[in-house]
Amino acid sequence: MARQEQGSDGVCRRVVVFPLPFEGHMSPMLQLAELLHARGLAVTVLHTDFNAPDPARHPELAFVPSHETLPDGDATPGAGTDIVAQLLALNGACERPFREALASLLLGQRPPDVACVVVDGQWYTALGAASGLGVPVLALRTDSAAMFRSMLAFPRLRDAGYIPVKDERLDELVAELEPLRVRDLIRVDSSDTDALCGFIARVAAAMRASASGVVLNTFDAIEALELTKIQEELSCPAFAVGPLHMMCPAPADHSLHRPDRSCLAWLDAHPPRSVLYVSLGSVASVDPGVFEEMAWGLASSGVPFLWVVRPGSVHGVGTEATPRMPDGIDEEVRTRGKVVTWAPQREVLAHEAIGAFWTHCGWNSTLESICAGVPVLAQPCFADQTVNARYLTHQWGIGLELGDVIERARVAKTARMVMTGKEGGRMRERARQLKLQTNQCVASSLAIESLARYMLSL
Ligand code: UDX
Repeated sequence: MARQEQGSDGVCRRVVVFPLPFEGHMSPMLQLAELLHARGLAVTVLHTDFNAPDPARHPELAFVPSHETLPDGDATPGAGTDIVAQLLALNGACERPFREALASLLLGQRPPDVACVVVDGQWYTALGAASGLGVPVLALRTDSAAMFRSMLAFPRLRDAGYIPVKDERLDELVAELEPLRVRDLIRVDSSDTDALCGFIARVAAAMRASASGVVLNTFDAIEALELTKIQEELSCPAFAVGPLHMMCPAPADHSLHRPDRSCLAWLDAHPPRSVLYVSLGSVASVDPGVFEEMAWGLASSGVPFLWVVRPGSVHGVGTEATPRMPDGIDEEVRTRGKVVTWAPQREVLAHEAIGAFWTHCGWNSTLESICAGVPVLAQPCFADQTVNARYLTHQWGIGLELGDVIERARVAKTARMVMTGKEGGRMRERARQLKLQTNQCVASSLAIESLARYMLSL
């Protein structure tokens, strides 16, 4: 039982958190909630009906739904591929329900009283709404410090002509954001540049106007310089409390999906470092042609593989339907592969049979690979993934890029290179070193202690 933190008036304190309802955002917010609870703060999770977390899996936290009405069509979360449109629509649809739910929490306040609210960094309307109700509000960034820094710099990048991205400048280093090149900047179609810039401007403006602090799921050993730069740019304090999934007292399963655990027994039957784990996270989807090249590349690589093929992860197949393997490949997959629709990823990466991770470079997957000491094959798809891929391959030296065009011969060659080649061996050694540095950060809970103290001081 965690000790209860009290304010100067002797009353216990509560933190209200409001996660964005997507896998890569929900897990870190719930992990933060558990960490704060372990430090004696009561925590209420205010959540959307869409992708609602399961209260039964987090008995120590209180849950309150906000009952939003979501828009139809392409802007429905999870429906189309236009993430910016979805985020804008979600912000619009959830502003009032969030404000009302928070207001009624504040009105019916019984001890422990609310010390502050933590909202996902993409909830710009919630940042404004909480601050409008007079409650201190902090933003949780679920991406890297490098990514957050590049978002803060976005208006300057546009003024300097880096955005919209021009083909002839793709390999140019971005002056204030090295080692990022123009091609690594947050990726959307050029026709969407205005929408993207508009979204980023709202997030940055809400952050500057309303946030009493920023919480980042990262740590000094991997992003010390980026964190210093962010602190120089913001007038409120930034707390780097990551890697959150490693800091949690009991590593509960925070996922919105149920994993297929049979893959762990399958891994048990394989020698150390022999299996390539393939997963493109919870949102990214690929064209049918790319899926086919991935499948044939894996099949012809000779490398055993565990592949997460999520329903909806191939365009045109439907969001509920699991994509079918290409004709003629079944035997190859049966002999050397295992395909699941959702894996217990952190346990998979920690399994000694895993030799490398073919990833879309979502920030959670990036952190999980670093913490497990596993080198990567990088296939960034959109958003912050290009930034993360650049850091994995160039800054930390633990990854190889698959390249812009996914083609079976290159897939097979790169898979063999990372699994059994000399370069793969060097990357594995660097990944092992990075894991050791990470363990030292995890051993220290100073950052989360200082965040909890700050919350109580607000
Ligand atoms: C999205 C964006 O794509 C990403 O770039 C951003 O940083 C966060 O939001 P997502 O696609 O969900 O992220 O990727 P990622 O951040 O890597 O999170 C995926 C999470 O799902 C990880 O924690 C991973 O462990 C988990 N997962 C994924 C599973 O548990 N099982 C699976 O089979 C696949």
